[in-house]
Amino acid sequence: MGDAAELRSRGLDRTVARRAWGLARPYRRRLLGFVGLIVLAAAVSAAPPLLIREIIDGAIPDGDRQQLVWLFVGLVGVGFVVAVVSMAERWLSASIGEELILDLRTMLYRHVHTMPIAFFTRTQTGSLITRLNNDVIGAQRALTGTLGGIVDNLIGVTITLIVMFTLEWRVTLIAVSLLPLFIVPARVVGRRLQALSREGMGLNAEMNTVMTERFHVAGALLVKLFGRIDREVETFHDKAERVAAIGVKQAMTGRALFASLGLVGALATALVYLVGGWLVIGDAADIQIGTVVALGLYVTQLYGPLAQLSNARVDLMTALVSFERVFEVVDLPRPIEDAPDAVELTHPVGRVTFDHVWFRFPAASGSHLVSLEGPTAEHGDDASDWILRDIDLDIAPGAMVALVGRSGAGKSTLSSLVPRLHDVTEGAVLIDGHDVRDLTLASVADAVGVVSQDPHLFHDSIAVNLRYARPDASDADLVRVARAARIHDTIAALPDGYDTIVGERGYRLSGGEKQRLSIARVLLKDPAIVVLDEATAHLDTESERLVQAALKETLHGRTSLVIAHRLSTVVDADQIVVLDAGRIAERGTHTELLAAGGLYAELARTQLVGVG
Ligand SMILES: Nc1ncnc2c1ncn2[C@@H]1O[C@H](COP(=O)(O)OP(=O)(O)O)[C@@H](O)[C@H]1O
Ligand SMILES: [Mg+2]
Repeated sequence: MGDAAELRSRGLDRTVARRAWGLARPYRRRLLGFVGLIVLAAAVSAAPPLLIREIIDGAIPDGDRQQLVWLFVGLVGVGFVVAVVSMAERWLSASIGEELILDLRTMLYRHVHTMPIAFFTRTQTGSLITRLNNDVIGAQRALTGTLGGIVDNLIGVTITLIVMFTLEWRVTLIAVSLLPLFIVPARVVGRRLQALSREGMGLNAEMNTVMTERFHVAGALLVKLFGRIDREVETFHDKAERVAAIGVKQAMTGRALFASLGLVGALATALVYLVGGWLVIGDAADIQIGTVVALGLYVTQLYGPLAQLSNARVDLMTALVSFERVFEVVDLPRPIEDAPDAVELTHPVGRVTFDHVWFRFPAASGSHLVSLEGPTAEHGDDASDWILRDIDLDIAPGAMVALVGRSGAGKSTLSSLVPRLHDVTEGAVLIDGHDVRDLTLASVADAVGVVSQDPHLFHDSIAVNLRYARPDASDADLVRVARAARIHDTIAALPDGYDTIVGERGYRLSGGEKQRLSIARVLLKDPAIVVLDEATAHLDTESERLVQAALKETLHGRTSLVIAHRLSTVVDADQIVVLDAGRIAERGTHTELLAAGGLYAELARTQLVGVG
């Protein structure tokens, strides 16, 4: 990522931090306890060098064995207290951290699901999943890891410095004077590490995207059919190689920091013994051996935390990058959501009205995220041309309207406005006289059933897939709809019947079986309105015959909008609407339109596959 992104993120730091803190608010009691334990641990860990000093300067020269034993007990006691406190501390940080991860994940997951379908067509699944995995964890680390670390180090350094200065200020001053030697390079390296980690996250997401796309059945199939395994491996290797390279860079930069820290620490320790020893030799009354040893021990406790503190800002900023990446998704506007005063559509009768509908796909900006889109991100940022122009159409409850027209005429787009996959640009779509934008999305979804060309099934049992339409459906219900959809016999013949697992995207079923299963699913939902979008286009004649029979059942007693490519389907329609470049060119019954000798007559001859 470039400098611009870096600058931008720095500007955002404060807002991001404030929002992150907002998320942590529910945990502030436990966070307080966590900080309290850190203070306790730091205070207790400062004791051992003092006890050791007493052993060297007091108990040993005095020959006081009893005091020696007490000091021993003290050292052991400190060990125990530190162990217990550190367990409690870890429990708090883990429970806060994991719950925060849970909050963030659920929030992201919900938000993503409320994005319009256009968002999913543009977004790379892999990048999105990375946000829900890695970045959420990074955000959690920011809170418990980085914040905890800063408090821990700050307390530790303060206590250690106070004790050291009290013990012997001259030696302490000399030891601490080495500090600037270290702080400046530590900051530089820290910044570099931050940049590397950000770049690493991006590269990881790219690699994940390649995998999620290819490991999908459809993706894997494409790779095989085109015999592109070697090239795929090569592309993947390139991405993975960049991840590997940045890993080495990160490791080396981190180690450079660590090594120089060790070096300065060793220098300081040596210096303490040199100056302390000098003082002991010169004037024994001034400073004793035990004090020198204690100071030597403290110095080693000082440099690690100090080094980390010098980087605290950078650490926090790095951690905030994760929060920022999470917020970025959460902040995406949701153009299609329930209006504040949305009403429930109860007992729909199924009148569908297009009232002078104009539609074009809106510009992508707003409800999309360039960083989730990969190489195609720059394209298509403008609103499309008009896809639908002044569509005026009223479908009476229970009537069947067939939509015909050339490919690209706007048939799918028109039908997608009914379940509100998109919102009209001008005009309105109404169900039972209510503008769909005034109804709750859930009740619209209940009222409208869609059967498309390529229905999706989840990797789960047939029963679970069917019950997706109605979780409380009984087994008898399942059989009833499966019979109606002409799929029951097929299911019953499977080894596990309704408990048979369908593969990812239902690959163990044929196209026609999948189609009939999806029809059964819609039947179970029992919607007042059904949209069929070329539901039989991909099927062979035998499957089609079954699917047609299933569809007849589905359409019975419901309002239907049928996009058909078979004359046989169209002939039965109450009204045929011919779309041409987004406009209604003709409408009428089969006989009327044929007699008119217009576009329909031409389509009927050339494009609609005649069966009867
Ligand atoms: N997401 C989109 N963004 C911009 N244009 C689109 C989008 N989806 C479809 N289109 C365009 O809208 C037009 C109508 O498409 P569609 O409704 O699928 O036609 P049909 O179903 O009649 O074949 C086509 O020109 C198509 O290229
Ligand atoms: Mg279409």
